[in-house]
Amino acid sequence: MKILVTGCAGFIGSHLTQRLLKEGHEVLGVDDFDVYYARSQKEKGLMPVLLHPKFKLVEENLATMALIKVLKGTEVVIHLAGQPGVRGSWGASFSRYLSNNIQVTQRLLEESKGSKLKRFIYASSSSVYGDVPMPEGQPELFLNEDMRVQPKSPYGVTKLAAEHLCQLYHMEYKMPTVCLRFFSVYGPGQRPDMAFHRFAQSILHDAALTIYGDGKQVRDFTYVDDVVDVINAAITSPEAVGQVVNVGGGSPCTLMEAVTLLEEISGKTSAKTFLERQKGDVMATRADTARLEKIFGFKPKVSLKEGLTRQWEWMQKFLQSEDDEKAIKANVQPIVGVDEDALAQVKADEKAAKKAAKKAKMKAVNDKLSNEAADVPGSDG
Ligand code: UGA
Repeated sequence: MKILVTGCAGFIGSHLTQRLLKEGHEVLGVDDFDVYYARSQKEKGLMPVLLHPKFKLVEENLATMALIKVLKGTEVVIHLAGQPGVRGSWGASFSRYLSNNIQVTQRLLEESKGSKLKRFIYASSSSVYGDVPMPEGQPELFLNEDMRVQPKSPYGVTKLAAEHLCQLYHMEYKMPTVCLRFFSVYGPGQRPDMAFHRFAQSILHDAALTIYGDGKQVRDFTYVDDVVDVINAAITSPEAVGQVVNVGGGSPCTLMEAVTLLEEISGKTSAKTFLERQKGDVMATRADTARLEKIFGFKPKVSLKEGLTRQWEWMQKFLQSEDDEKAIKANVQPIVGVDEDALAQVKADEKAAKKAAKKAKMKAVNDKLSNEAADVPGSDG
């Protein structure tokens, strides 16, 4: 199938793109390499697919580009692009959330409503739930898709608004939308603002871990390959159309429990700095995965221990490469003035290369002409 992946250079996007190509699909990826985090990390994530014959990358901004360019002939849209980050969505930065999360989703839906799309899969978030009040006497609450949602962060508000837009276009235009609510996704390639990336980075640099609040907040951490499996299943599952589905890892734990596990994996214990709880941070996300299982017959496969081990292994190599790059850049001496001899040599080399290329081209033309002459019947006399 011909699939459009928005945000293909992002954390989930790069994993998904690799998987779709492995499945034999043709992937058109759009990404504007937004400055929210380093371009180098995104490029590293996309590296394995850049030369794949069935992959094409369009570096443009979905808020302003002519969408027809990427929607023409597309059978499935997987819309992952957006402005992420729960805690940074307050204040002036909200305009980025508004545009990148709501307006871009509306543009994509509007532009594709008349076409014969087989699926429009939207990456929603557990952040749409907010702090759902705990029923009396119950120690924990699993969030299900029919519960009243009340986001606690501006980010969550924009993710919910875009989800509602998908539902509207499904109802009014019969668009085959599927909204997947991802719960704190982690794994190799994770965004640098997210907890595990930051914690692993601190451990590797022997720095203190920064914990927001008391560390007792619960997250249903979900391994990226499990998320990719569900997206892949949503492309073909007829039952998924028109649905909103939780995609949770299935083993929620407190942040401090996850920290302890990461310390065990790394074999290092770190100091911790406890800072105040961040505005927008919810107390607990535990996914009710009954609908996920019913529609896709899917259960998450990767345990937190296994997934964190894989992220830790990736993180060591990634940080080493980042540190190496920084060291090389720091050692590069700026050129002051011009070395006339070196410049003359470069020019001479360039001239020689051009001359050689011209000679080779002439030879190729002559060879072709003599071959053609030899092929003409009777031309050999
Ligand atoms: C993550 C993503 O950032 C969102 O894009 C996504 O939509 C969301 O999951 C979701 O599932 O709704 P979050 O749960 O905040 O958001 O994930 P992390 O950034 O990994 O943070 C997990 C917890 O660790 C939060 O309570 C956060 O405050 C805490 N944290 C994070 C720290 O204590 N210290 C840090 O340095 C970073």
